[in-house]
Amino acid sequence: MAETHKKPHAIFIPYPLQGHVIPAVPLAIKLASQGFTITYINTEAIHHQTSKAEPNTEPDVFTKVRESGLDIRYKTVSDGLPVGFDRSLNHDQYMEALLHVLSAHVDEVVGQIVKSDDSVRCLIADTFFVWPSKIAKKFGLLYVSFWTEPALVFSLYYHMDLLRINGHFGCQDCREDSIDYIPGVKSIEPKDMTSYLQETDTTSVCHQIIFSAFNDTKNADFVLCNTVQELEAETLSALQAKMAFYAIGPIFPEGFTKSFVATSLWSESDCTQWLDKKPHGSVLYVSFGSYAHVTKENLEQIANGLSLSNVSFVWVLRPDIVSSDDAHPLPDGFEEEVADRAIIIPWCSQRAMLAHPAVGGFLTHCGWNSVLESIWCEVPLLCFPLLTDQFTNRKLVVDDWKIGINLSDRKLVTKEEVSSNINRLMSGKSGDELKNTITEAKKTLENALSPNGSSEKNMVQFIKDLKTKISEKTDEPNRSICNGK
Ligand SMILES: *[C@@H]1O[C@H](CO)[C@@H](O)[C@H](O)[C@H]1NC(C)=O
Ligand SMILES: *[C@@H]1O[C@H](CO)[C@@H](O)[C@H](O)[C@H]1NC(C)=O
Ligand SMILES: *[C@@H]1O[C@H](CO)[C@@H](O)[C@H](O)[C@H]1NC(C)=O
Ligand SMILES: *[C@@H]1O[C@H](CO)[C@@H](O)[C@H](O)[C@H]1NC(C)=O
Repeated sequence: MAETHKKPHAIFIPYPLQGHVIPAVPLAIKLASQGFTITYINTEAIHHQTSKAEPNTEPDVFTKVRESGLDIRYKTVSDGLPVGFDRSLNHDQYMEALLHVLSAHVDEVVGQIVKSDDSVRCLIADTFFVWPSKIAKKFGLLYVSFWTEPALVFSLYYHMDLLRINGHFGCQDCREDSIDYIPGVKSIEPKDMTSYLQETDTTSVCHQIIFSAFNDTKNADFVLCNTVQELEAETLSALQAKMAFYAIGPIFPEGFTKSFVATSLWSESDCTQWLDKKPHGSVLYVSFGSYAHVTKENLEQIANGLSLSNVSFVWVLRPDIVSSDDAHPLPDGFEEEVADRAIIIPWCSQRAMLAHPAVGGFLTHCGWNSVLESIWCEVPLLCFPLLTDQFTNRKLVVDDWKIGINLSDRKLVTKEEVSSNINRLMSGKSGDELKNTITEAKKTLENALSPNGSSEKNMVQFIKDLKTKISEKTDEPNRSICNGK
C-alpha cells in the first residue's frame, strides 16, 4: 500500500478551556504544515466566545491559514449545554457535561467526518477527555493524546495507583513525607502535587474526569507533550520507557506575538502605548490566568501589596476573578490610589505583554502556558499557584529551575510579603540572579526548537512513527469493518 505517501487526516479536539486551546491551535497548524489534513473541532461555546472576542474571524478562526494553503478544516460540536450558559459560575455542571454528554456529540460528528472522507486515520484529543480511545477504536483510528501540562504532572497522574498504595493519595490521613518512588521523579513533596492529588475527598467531578481520563490514556497510541526534553529529562525518559511519549514544546504560534489565528476567549486590551513610556524592565505584569478564582481576602491583600510596593504594573483582572457574581472585587479606592502607575484591564494578549521590553516581572498563578511564555520572554516569575497543576509548576519554576520566587508560603497572603517579594523580584541582587537563570532556560527552549533541537527531532520522529503505525493498521484485514463501512 502507498499509504505512507498519502496525506494523513487527523481529527483534532482540544479541551474546551482557554489554557488548552492556546497550544492546540498552533499544534494543529504545525501538523498541517508538516503535511497533515486536520479537521479541528471546537465546541460551539468556544467557537461563539472566540468569534465574539475577535469579530473578524468568520467563518472560522483558520480562514487565514487556509488561504495560505494549509488543509485545516473546521467543525463545531455541542458540549451539551446552551451556548450562552455561564460555565465559569457553574463550573461543576460544565465539567459534568464534558464528562457525560460531550462524547455522544463527538461520536456523532467523528462518524460523519469518517463517513465522508476515508483518509481519516487518527484522533488527536486532549488527555483530559474521558472518551478518546473508545471513539478512536469504534472508527478504526489511532489515538494521539495531547498533554498540555509538564511531563512531571502527567507522571503523577499516571502513577496515581502508586501514590494510593503508598498512602500519599486517596486516604484520610495521608503521609506527609517526600514521595521518592515515582519513576523518573527524584523526590516531590505532597504539597507540590496537583490540587486534585492533595484533596482527601476524591468524589468530585474533576476527580472522576482525571481517573477516567488517565485510565483511557493507557490506551493511547502516542502522547504529545508541550514540554522540552532537556527541561524534564529524567521524568521524560522514564515515561518514554513505557510509552510513545514525545516532548515537542514549547508550542507557540509562529510569530509568537502575532498569530494569524485568534485563540482568545475575551477581547484583548492593548497596553503598548502605555508600556512604551515605561523604563526597560520596570513594569510588573499581574495575571491569574483564564480559569482559577482568587478569594476576595487574597485579592485584597495582593491589591494592597501592589499599592505598598510602588512598582508600575499592568493587572489583568478577569471580571469573574473572584466570581462572576462579584462585579467589584477590588478594595474601595484602590484604582484611584494607583492610577498614576498602573492600568487594570480585563484581558490582554499575554505573549505581547511579556514580550514588551518594559515588562520585568510576572506575578502569576503558574499556569503552564504562562510559565513557558515567561521563559521565552526572559521575565522572572512571582508564583501564586491556585489550582490544579499550578502547585507542581511552581515547584519546577522556584525549586528546580530557580527562575522565580514564591509570593507567599501560606494560603492567606499578607500585603507586606506581597510588597517585599515584588521588590525582590523586580530589583536588587535576587532580581539579577533570576534574570540570569531565566536567560539560560530561554536558551534551552530556543535550542529545542532549532532545526536540530530535541523538540523538532521529536516531532519528526512522531510523524514517522505515526505513519508507520497508520500503514500497519491499514494493512489489517478487518479495517473496513472497524470503519463502519
Ligand atoms: C478503566 O478502563 C477499563 C477498560 O479499559 C474499564 O473496564 C474500567 O471501568 C475503567 N475504569 C475507570 C475508573 O474508568
Ligand atoms: C513607596 O513610596 C513611599 C512614598 O514615597 C515610601 O514612603 C515607601 O517607603 C515606598 N515603599 C517602597 C517599598 O519602596
Ligand atoms: C515556596 O513555597 C513552598 C510551599 O508552597 C515551599 O515548599 C517552598 O519551600 C518555598 N520555597 C522557597 C524558596 O521559599
Ligand atoms: C543537524 O545535524 C546533522 C547531523 O548531526 C548535521 O549534518 C547538520 O549540519 C545539522 N544542522 C544544523 C542546522 O545544525
